[in-house]
Amino acid sequence: MTAPLVLGVETSCDETSLALVDGEGRVLSSIVSSQVAAHERYGGVVPEIAARAHLANLPPLLEEALAGGGARLADVGVVAATAGPGLVGALLVGLCEGKGLAMGLGVPFVPVHHIEAHCLSPFLATDGAPARAVPPEWTALVVSGGHTHLFAFSPAGIELLARTRDDAAGEAYDKVAKMAALGYPGGPVVDRLARTGTSRHPFHLPHFKDGSLDLSFSGLKTAARDRLAGIGVAPRSGVPGGASPRPEDETPPALRDLLADFQEAVVAQLEDRLTRLVRVRPVPLLSVSGGVAANSLLRERLPAWGRAHGVEVLLPPRALTVDNAAMVAFAGLRRAAAPGEGLDAPARSRWPLESLPAC
Ligand code: KG4
Ligand code: ZN
Repeated sequence: MTAPLVLGVETSCDETSLALVDGEGRVLSSIVSSQVAAHERYGGVVPEIAARAHLANLPPLLEEALAGGGARLADVGVVAATAGPGLVGALLVGLCEGKGLAMGLGVPFVPVHHIEAHCLSPFLATDGAPARAVPPEWTALVVSGGHTHLFAFSPAGIELLARTRDDAAGEAYDKVAKMAALGYPGGPVVDRLARTGTSRHPFHLPHFKDGSLDLSFSGLKTAARDRLAGIGVAPRSGVPGGASPRPEDETPPALRDLLADFQEAVVAQLEDRLTRLVRVRPVPLLSVSGGVAANSLLRERLPAWGRAHGVEVLLPPRALTVDNAAMVAFAGLRRAAAPGEGLDAPARSRWPLESLPAC
């Protein structure tokens, strides 16, 4: 391992995570504790429950992350914690933990932008190899439960190229799963079932009159609701205490086909925006990250799209697609060299990535 050892802390939503990354971006340990079980009966993340769970999870996870990385607390040279965007109560727990540890150890504290951390996750490996070098210019597609954005990174700064105008891609997965009574979160189950169906009636591809590369997933959700009714699956909405999920093996073939159409539409929209992007600007390297980057169809199709368009497409190891502190530690390592807000950083529920200086 090479110095400095960076301790990463992630608590922006419903995963509590701690990780150790060394000075070359080797992931020495990455522990993620999912709170899905605590939130699933509500059909979504409950902020107060998330914050309290982070508080309980952090101390044992810190021990685990240090032991997993073969390190002691005194070996940590930098502490990095997610400062936003995310749920403020949840963010505050990890941010205060990170600041407290940094103050106690007398080492620098680096506040990390959660989306920048996702963008960097494809440069990391989970097999003990150092991180891949990040080139001066690259493009990033983030597809998660809260974000669907395209950014260009360059020495001049971070440029927002496109964003969803309504729902995020992962949010559409979660809403369709909820309507079809498949449980929460929806991405993994919809992905599995879609692969057992056949896409025969693709959904309409949304476009904007102004020619923008922006994305949209709410129309897809509405169209899916209408089609659910058409195949005799009564669309369900609003949970609390909702009905237990439909067992996967009882999924009717027509629903499997509908989910295949839905999944095809999500990936086709991403391909469409990327194809239009490479017509107007060079994209030598594309990083694809966020929870939806775990999707099996996306993981086949976007690298194939890249080969066809001369774009190197980097995907994170599956373990680093969910919210995790390894990506936070790596983002912190890269930002540690430049003076920043440090211990003064507040928790920010909203925080445009393009407001950050180049790194
Ligand atoms: O990045 P992430 O863990 O949290 C946010 O920062 O939002 O992403 C979670 C999202 C959820 O919407 C979940 O349904 C989706 O990622 N997801 C998937 C898959 N696995 C997780 N979506 C599609 N296919 C998957 N295999
Ligand atoms: Zn995330």
